[in-house]
Amino acid sequence: MKPTDILRAEHRVIEQVLAVLEKMATQAEASKSVDVESARQVIDFIRHFADRCHHAKEEDRLFPALEARGFPRQGGPTGVMLAEHEMGRECVRDMDRALGELDHAPEAALSTFVTAARRYVALLREHIGKEDNVLFVLAERTIEEDAQAQLLSEFEAVEKEHVGEHVHEKYVQLAESLMERYGIDKQSIPRSGDFFCCH
Ligand SMILES: [Fe+2]
Ligand SMILES: [Fe+2]
Repeated sequence: MKPTDILRAEHRVIEQVLAVLEKMATQAEASKSVDVESARQVIDFIRHFADRCHHAKEEDRLFPALEARGFPRQGGPTGVMLAEHEMGRECVRDMDRALGELDHAPEAALSTFVTAARRYVALLREHIGKEDNVLFVLAERTIEEDAQAQLLSEFEAVEKEHVGEHVHEKYVQLAESLMERYGIDKQSIPRSGDFFCCH
């Protein structure tokens, strides 16, 4: 197993929650009300699984390994990925803030939530497509085999330090139950590569 196999598998779980969030935004717009409980669960998933568990492995381990092999952060591929992680965090802050404002400014808050949710879904799908099809391929070709084995064990350490044991499974399960609640069939979830075109 390669470190990028772990990251690709995590992308598949994140895609499940993106499909949920996309449907949630569509339903919120149509019904003029937000499913607040599920929305808070999606935000919890993104902050803990996508950010703390997944992006931490990329930012703390994989990207520095690529930078050490001659790919500059400034103006290079990891710099672009880091900027996109930050843009994603901004979308999540906007969604979170909108949920808090639903009671006193329902129309504006709903509209902010829907816009931020759609921006996040589009951003992350394209981001995941770039990583799967470009950055990870680059990493697999550039990082020596023994260094990849070292990265793999570091990923386990990241998981323990940033996430805690069994927490990963908890969020995989949360993704499953959100898909079930929103009637999303796993087979129908688009792969993010479909949203990415490098031409
Ligand atoms: Fe990333
Ligand atoms: Fe990623």
